[in-house]
Amino acid sequence: MDRISIAGGRALNGVIQISGAKNAALPLMIASLLTPDRLTLKNVPNLADVNLLARILRNHGLDFTIDGKRAEPSPHMGETFHLTARDIVDTTAPYELVSRMRASFWVLGPLVARCGQARVSMPGGCAIGTRPVDLHLMALKELGAEIDIDGGYVVARAPNGLRGARVEFPKVSVGATHTALMAASLAKGETVLENAAREPEIGDVAECLVKMGARIDGIGTSTLRIDGVSRLEGTVHTVLPDRIETGTYAFAAAAAGGDVELQGARRTLLEAAFEALEQTGAAITDTDKGIRVKRDGRALEPIRIETRPFPGFPTDLQAQLMALMTKANGTSVIRETIFENRFMHVQELARLGADIQLHGDTATIKGVKALRGAQVMATDLRASVSLVIAGLMAEGQTTINRVYHLDRGFERLEQKLSGCGAQIERIVAG
Ligand code: UD1
Repeated sequence: MDRISIAGGRALNGVIQISGAKNAALPLMIASLLTPDRLTLKNVPNLADVNLLARILRNHGLDFTIDGKRAEPSPHMGETFHLTARDIVDTTAPYELVSRMRASFWVLGPLVARCGQARVSMPGGCAIGTRPVDLHLMALKELGAEIDIDGGYVVARAPNGLRGARVEFPKVSVGATHTALMAASLAKGETVLENAAREPEIGDVAECLVKMGARIDGIGTSTLRIDGVSRLEGTVHTVLPDRIETGTYAFAAAAAGGDVELQGARRTLLEAAFEALEQTGAAITDTDKGIRVKRDGRALEPIRIETRPFPGFPTDLQAQLMALMTKANGTSVIRETIFENRFMHVQELARLGADIQLHGDTATIKGVKALRGAQVMATDLRASVSLVIAGLMAEGQTTINRVYHLDRGFERLEQKLSGCGAQIERIVAG
């Protein structure tokens, strides 16, 4: 298995191009199942999760081609996917594929909406808590689907089609909102989704669905009104920039010190994270092409924060912020309110000399003078990248094992960081 080796202590200076958002690209690809026409997606990041989802969708009969292969001099422009689900040949999403990526479970909504049936394996993905699917199933039941669990599979049936309904989510869920939104687009009549997730990636999918002919009101709010249509059409849509990648490199720049421009980044997608970063003492300014993050030699200030659904501080940046705070000038407190078990990075950060105490959902991080390089293990996607940030701050050599987690969500991470002066390289397994 590949490893990443970092010689820490170098400042980051330069430009990083932000890729298209993984968490928008995945549901947008899934939305292609809703129409027999061609959906063209631009600015799709080249990631292991995207490639795996393409395989899963092909299994359902999707015709899939890529153009715009990243030719220099614009290596950052992303890929253009053409997805056509003219005929759905198979409405089963098998365990072997779904167990490797949680988001692939989201094919359930579009399949049952379009074909009247679907059989989808219960999901896998990052081991960050129990991550149930009850809210997805609740929404589909409200829309008239019959749901059974059979041999580890969710079997959904709606032989006469789905019908609009009022769905009130007891808890904010990104995935369940995607499922309900996509399914309701092809249901008969009006659906109202209350307490829907407001993450920008939901808005991106909703805007694409509108271009496909869906009738959706309230995009960007927690109440979505969908007036179902009988058929959706093809369209062309550009995936929005990745706010988690943006935040990750912003934190990395603050951690290593230096001056980095994040081109293509949009501040409105992560106000809460930038506010937190400013509190730590980094300077953030808007540029013509994106956002600039700068930190001179001053010490980092500690912070007190809790993760929240959008527009709050994202759980997907919690590990990265924690890595940054390991060297703050005082004690920080970070509370994780979204996933109960999302602290796997803590013991790995401790291997580098971080001083972190865990009590339930709360981590208390006492800033230390220095981190020291060590061997660490990547455990999930966001935890892995927090180890990269810590490695950039540490004295000496840090080796991160099991980096396939990183490849699931970060496009060309080593090139992007080494382009700004980091000493980072991939050691390819022989
Ligand atoms: C998505 C993101 C992930 C992010 C998360 C929260 C993608 C591909 N993944 O994951 O990166 O960390 O949102 O912002 O976009 N829950 C239930 N029942 C359900 C569904 C969820 O109880 O049926 C719970 C989860 O266990 C969790 C919370 O709701 O505690 C939020 O999860 P959710 O928003 O659904 O996360 P995902 O959509 O899986």
